[in-house]
Amino acid sequence: MTRLVLEGLRKTYGPTVAVDRVDLEVAEGELVALLGPSGCGKTTTLRMVAGFIAPTAGRIFIGGTDVSRAPPYARDTGMVFQGYALFPHMTVAENVGFGLEMRRVAKAEREARIAEALRLVRLDGYAERRIAQMSGGQQQRVALARALVVNPGVFLLDEPLSNLDARLRAEVRVEIRALQQRLGLTTLFVTHDQEEALTMADRMVVMNHGRVCQIGPPEELYERPADLFVAGFLGRCNVFRGTVETPGTLRAGAIALPCDGGVPGQTAAMVVRPERVGIDPEAGLLPGRIGMTTYLGGLTDWHVETDAGTVLVTRPTPPPGDRLRRLAPGDIVHLDWAGTAGRLLSPEPNGELA
Ligand SMILES: Nc1ncnc2c1ncn2[C@@H]1O[C@H](COP(=O)(O)OP(=O)(O)O)[C@@H](O)[C@H]1O
Ligand SMILES: [Mg+2]
Repeated sequence: MTRLVLEGLRKTYGPTVAVDRVDLEVAEGELVALLGPSGCGKTTTLRMVAGFIAPTAGRIFIGGTDVSRAPPYARDTGMVFQGYALFPHMTVAENVGFGLEMRRVAKAEREARIAEALRLVRLDGYAERRIAQMSGGQQQRVALARALVVNPGVFLLDEPLSNLDARLRAEVRVEIRALQQRLGLTTLFVTHDQEEALTMADRMVVMNHGRVCQIGPPEELYERPADLFVAGFLGRCNVFRGTVETPGTLRAGAIALPCDGGVPGQTAAMVVRPERVGIDPEAGLLPGRIGMTTYLGGLTDWHVETDAGTVLVTRPTPPPGDRLRRLAPGDIVHLDWAGTAGRLLSPEPNGELA
């Protein structure tokens, strides 16, 4: 098991800053998800760790050794590329064994390790198939086997699930996480999918414009986002802007709303997750009228028009006959939330919702 450390990592292309002073430590056996919108610098960061891109500045340590200038094959990393980058004309075994051949591993050992890697990803028996004859999900597992066969100290994955359909994606994400935990692999996992990051990661790194916005465990980032960008990128939220009246109360126009603290006079944006908003036909703090209702199967969304703007409320769909289920557009309801659910954020910096 191996620790990965990035220090002030930076990459520029002419005037474009692709990655801007990223500091990060991935502990032994930890899975860290690098999450952010397209173009925020995830792939560039991963490729610098793997050694395919030379940093403009900063250093990379793998297991305590500075590998910033080392070639990819000397870095103790295994990488799953976005789109897999398999050799289509070669067999599964040839693809998986490629890295071993590069490392000049003898044929007998190579064969044993290929067989073992294929067993790990449940592809035993497929060694002689050609890539073109494999399904998307199988190709994905070949790519995993190719990365794992070198027994990497650091496992790198670049959007490994993005080519799979929704059902397979959910399945494979559980498999990868189980494998990673079983093998105790130090892992850096790149994704633009917040659900993938939330469900798989020990810790997440949210990036925007080449910079790290926030690092922490999934619950911390979802429930205590550092700014509006992180809040909006990790899930839906209601945003109220106003001034803190007393600690725990935000005044937005004529309305006083519960919040999680604050300093009187402070201008703030407050985010409240839709599942934390109470909705009741009879009583509550903030009255409003039902607007659009969206049935999502297991969940139902109500858009409620209030004097503080439209508020999104979401709940497990109530059973037929329940009084919430019978709410119709125009009906009056009352909304409420605990002070702790009203997360105060400074409107700047990163004051835009993702
Ligand atoms: N070879 C390159 N030349 C110029 N700009 C690049 C190059 N590679 C990446 N970039 C730019 O760097 C930024 C980050 O890219 P990338 O790391 O691929 O983002 P992500 O993987 O998060 O989508 C983008 O603005 C991208 O256009
Ligand atoms: Mg990318």
